Amino acid sequence: MAKRLIVLSLVLAMLAVIVTGCGQATSGGKGKLVGVTMPTKSLQRWNEDGANVKKALEAKGYKVDLQYADNKQETQNSQIENQITKGCDVLIIASIDGGALGGVLEQAKKNNIPVIAYDRLITNTENVDYYATFDNYGVGKMQGEFIVQALGLDKGEKGPFTMECFGGDPGDNNAYLFNQGAMDVLQPYIDEGVLVVKSGQTKFPDQIAITNWESKGAQDRMDNLLTAYYADENIDVVLSPNDSLAQGIVASLKSAGYGTASKPFPILTGQDCDKINVGQIIRGEQSMSIFKDTRILADKVIEMAEAILEGKPVPTNATYNNGVKDVPSFNCEIKFADKNNWKELLVDSGYYKLSDIPGAE
Ligand code: BGC
Repeated sequence: MAKRLIVLSLVLAMLAVIVTGCGQATSGGKGKLVGVTMPTKSLQRWNEDGANVKKALEAKGYKVDLQYADNKQETQNSQIENQITKGCDVLIIASIDGGALGGVLEQAKKNNIPVIAYDRLITNTENVDYYATFDNYGVGKMQGEFIVQALGLDKGEKGPFTMECFGGDPGDNNAYLFNQGAMDVLQPYIDEGVLVVKSGQTKFPDQIAITNWESKGAQDRMDNLLTAYYADENIDVVLSPNDSLAQGIVASLKSAGYGTASKPFPILTGQDCDKINVGQIIRGEQSMSIFKDTRILADKVIEMAEAILEGKPVPTNATYNNGVKDVPSFNCEIKFADKNNWKELLVDSGYYKLSDIPGAE
């Protein structure tokens, strides 16, 4: 009996150690410093990403050094160098030019600091440990499929419909994946003559990239396309990979007189569900936008960082090849918003308040 009691109290003592140990593990962020670098404040999404990651890390007891780089990779590299010097325990990086971080990440490696690429893949270096993102190829595919369904091409509609294609920044690996996903769906219809790209410009990045994802760049290119190719005929479809480009495209369409019965807005895609663009969807100026819930991405990247710091298995469900290695990755789920579901998806879910969206109330 005495022996049994000793065994029992030993077991209880061990359990207590395990329980307290776990308790410490969940609040284990205490004292640890996480370096977070985001590309720019000029786009709504990165402000939200930065704020969400910071808030979620701080709630777990981490300290956070959050930096924005004004879309300049050299600036971001010196911010990362500073974070290494400050002794950050993990680096979470949303890069600008994903192929230009090799040098600074060598320093991170020398200091044994794990690196997680955030949303955008960091390429051409061994020294990136994990990647947390959304299904980037899936974004383009969903945009392509939206166009196909909106025009009824899947039901045999033959058009022909006029279309122009836009691509993102050539330094951003995602831009290639968005383009690939969309073109894999649309190219067969272009080959068949059902979709007609009057400019003939479909090659990414050579012909359709927009530097730094700038609205102004998209507006200028759309102005040129409308003048050169659509003086006598309306444009029916514009493939835009994201919302900053879609803002410029809408501005151009409006100044060319689109938005009337004889000149209706073309089908126009987007991504990010920026507040301005949700307003554009409500007013019928933009057809859809891919919704990437940055709260989910923030939670996932933090789960990954914690697992790394605690030596536990890191959650992954995909790999991305960065030119040098297969980076273990997590793809978060995407959805799309259009005129039918934007309220349910974006407001009822608590992502936005109705008053956040211009023109919604
Ligand atoms: C992101 C998009 C964003 C774009 C421009 C991409 O890497 O995945 O969500 O619209 O950058 O900032």
